[in-house]
Amino acid sequence: MDVLNIAPVRLEGKKLLVLDQTQLPGREVYIEINNKEDLFDAIFHLKVRGAPAIGVAAAYGMWLAASQISSGDSSEFLEEFLKIKQYIGSSRPTAVNLFWALDRMEGCLKIEIGKNYGEFSREKAVDQLLSEAERIRIEDEEACRAMGELGLTLLRPGMGILTHCNAGTIATAKYGTALSPIYLGQERGYGFRVFADETRPLLQGARLTAWELQKAGVDVTLICDNMASLVMKNGWVQAVVVGCDRMAANGDGANKIGTSGVAILAKEYGIPFYMFVPTSTIDLSTKTGEDIVIEERNGKEIGELWYEKPMAPAGVKTYNPAFDVTPAKYITAVITEKGIVKPPYSENLAALINRAKAGDSDEK
Ligand code: MRU
Repeated sequence: MDVLNIAPVRLEGKKLLVLDQTQLPGREVYIEINNKEDLFDAIFHLKVRGAPAIGVAAAYGMWLAASQISSGDSSEFLEEFLKIKQYIGSSRPTAVNLFWALDRMEGCLKIEIGKNYGEFSREKAVDQLLSEAERIRIEDEEACRAMGELGLTLLRPGMGILTHCNAGTIATAKYGTALSPIYLGQERGYGFRVFADETRPLLQGARLTAWELQKAGVDVTLICDNMASLVMKNGWVQAVVVGCDRMAANGDGANKIGTSGVAILAKEYGIPFYMFVPTSTIDLSTKTGEDIVIEERNGKEIGELWYEKPMAPAGVKTYNPAFDVTPAKYITAVITEKGIVKPPYSENLAALINRAKAGDSDEK
């Protein structure tokens, strides 16, 4: 499937490239990230978007920015690195993968500094940061593949599946989270019929999910967000699959605005609602969905951004939250790369993370 070879973030030699998702579906254009300001702009304007892809971009971006730090000794280098980290971290607040990846890059640098105390080599540190960014990308690809295999065990051939926003291959290192089982099912002749919510206001469903699935030859039907209820009532949907930007310790999950409404509808119609959440998106330090910071974006995105002329009167008040929180009680199961988690989430998510940590330290 060609679409799976379209990476949202890639290196060409030492050039850092990002697929400009704001130009899709019309044009497949990669833009070069030359410095921290370019990276901030790419994340802020959703040229690179989707929680795992933001994490991957931030990791490579930290490597690139670190390679441009001129100061010599380790404490000056670290001080400068932490300033850049804070700046990149201020680009978008909700997806925890951004902060998770930035923390991993900081940890990597600190280990390198600790190992070579007294004889700090800037070149070696930068090399280590590149290796860590590569690991983050590869681990995400593996996690997405594993979530696809696990997710597929919950689905049956011929099912109608509804999805919201874009949790596909270009939102991750490869495969996607919620779309990963759909790609694997497609390879294995499952014949899914997918309904993609357009996902206003930024149209990730229309511009990105419909584009990805159509390219992969999946039977995809694009609907406006307000059509989901009718499509469910008609009996055309047997499962809902969505991604996640941050899952709190109690299983409340923040995802693209409109997700919670889809979950409430799914409950009403007796349709299972599956949230695909790599462990890098589970934030046990956030207790409940109430504690998740929800990004609010420029209201012009609602009335103007994708239109030839304004679709709302000039000066009208707007409210444009980019995410909402689906309460845990509406989530039938959480699919992670380490296993499928069922309620009670407060206990079962923590147990999964602890098992995963123990497994990781056994491997080392
Ligand atoms: O604003 P976006 O496009 O970055 O929002 C993306 C989503 O809400 C996705 O569903 C989520 O990040 C999971 S992507 C695998």
